[in-house]
Amino acid sequence: MTEEKGGSAQRTSLQGYWSSRMAFILAVTGSAVGLGNIWKFPYITGQNGGGAFVLVYLFCVVLVGMPVMMSEILLGRRGRRNPVATMALLGAEEGGSTHWRWIGSMGVLAGILILSYYSVIAGWSLAYIEKSLSGVFSGASSDEVSGIFNMFIGDWKMVAGAHTLFMFLTVFVVARGVERGLEQAVRFMVPALFLLLLALLGYSINTGHFGEGVSYLFTPNWHALTWGTVLIALGQAFFTLSIGMGAIMAYGAYLPEETSITGSAASVVVADTSIAILSALVIFPIVFANGLDSAEGAGLVFHTLPLAFGQMGGGVFFATIFFILLTFAAWTSAIGLMEPAVAWIVESYGRTRAQAAVIVGVLIWAIGLGSVLSFNVLADFKFLNRTIFENVDYLTSNIMLPLGGLLITFFAGWVMCRNSSSDELGGATSIYKIWRFLARWVAPIAILFVFLKAIGWLPEFSG
Ligand code: PHE
Repeated sequence: MTEEKGGSAQRTSLQGYWSSRMAFILAVTGSAVGLGNIWKFPYITGQNGGGAFVLVYLFCVVLVGMPVMMSEILLGRRGRRNPVATMALLGAEEGGSTHWRWIGSMGVLAGILILSYYSVIAGWSLAYIEKSLSGVFSGASSDEVSGIFNMFIGDWKMVAGAHTLFMFLTVFVVARGVERGLEQAVRFMVPALFLLLLALLGYSINTGHFGEGVSYLFTPNWHALTWGTVLIALGQAFFTLSIGMGAIMAYGAYLPEETSITGSAASVVVADTSIAILSALVIFPIVFANGLDSAEGAGLVFHTLPLAFGQMGGGVFFATIFFILLTFAAWTSAIGLMEPAVAWIVESYGRTRAQAAVIVGVLIWAIGLGSVLSFNVLADFKFLNRTIFENVDYLTSNIMLPLGGLLITFFAGWVMCRNSSSDELGGATSIYKIWRFLARWVAPIAILFVFLKAIGWLPEFSG
């Protein structure tokens, strides 16, 4: 045992490096931008009353999300291993205990659980490519569009088939490895998605209900907010940025030494947040223009957008492109969800990437059947008043990811010595000091506070 705290950096990655800073940013953006932005953000915003929820979410992204993301990248780059081994290594080096590896293990598990239902929803998107192409949405009424959706999710074999196909696509890319697999998948998708959402924004502005959508999203109605919904907003910040579970740590392990972590994290956060807000700005005017229920839940995007596409010129074309892009976005996120588990199996059990991807993929596929059935056969099978899908989502987004983030910032801010973290973040600049303040105080305390409030362990301030 040496007395010196903090290790030498400059370890080498076992699985290769990103070819450039841009490749890293694209990969992290590809992981961040996905169903979380376009499917989940609008529907949980609708379920939680709009304005105040959005504001809390934005606060969480900036004050908690940003420091957690920076911490994850810096730990990943310093450890240069899969999240379990990285935390064991850095734990021994900086904190005198390899038990820190449990942060990594929890992340591996969270990724597996999230992907189990994520793949089911991505399957919906996949199925909607075919539906859009067939022209069923052209001129369809709102009831017809709902009917198509309900008929589809009610048929468990169709949903299971789409889930199977999506898992197959994911395993295929992950098996091919860092350089060839992950990098190429993300290059065109995010800019294309952004442009298509801008075009849809044009449609929403013309619905005549755009103002209503904007005020729904940005006028805070504090009465609708409880500590339970604050926890959901916090969980969404983690989910949408792909943080708290080691995905970003795994990607950071392949990051060249000289790349700026702060700059990379900031670009990803800005891109991710703009796409989420843009998507809500597109969807809510359509909700109000057609008298739909903003709180209807997981089907929201699958009702609103096909309805809109069905009414516009070239709708078949745009709808098809949209669902292709959404599937792509989900695909590049799914890769990130699998990466911690796959890298862990490769590095600890000496398997090839392809073998590890198949093992993890089959496991995730099987767990996902629970979510497939949550929308049909087992729709009434509830535990704590939630379906299987809802329970897996709640447990991962609102508990495991924030807990992971709490431990990650605690480790980076309190356990890791100053020299090591400032080394990774480019010296003791003022940005470093802001990061350190957020990572030591704001993020962990905010997460803990919201947890305790949400489970009712802290009393209310006033009546
Ligand atoms: N951020 C992704 C999304 O918003 C989901 C995700 C979570 C991906 C965690 C990787 C890790 O869709």
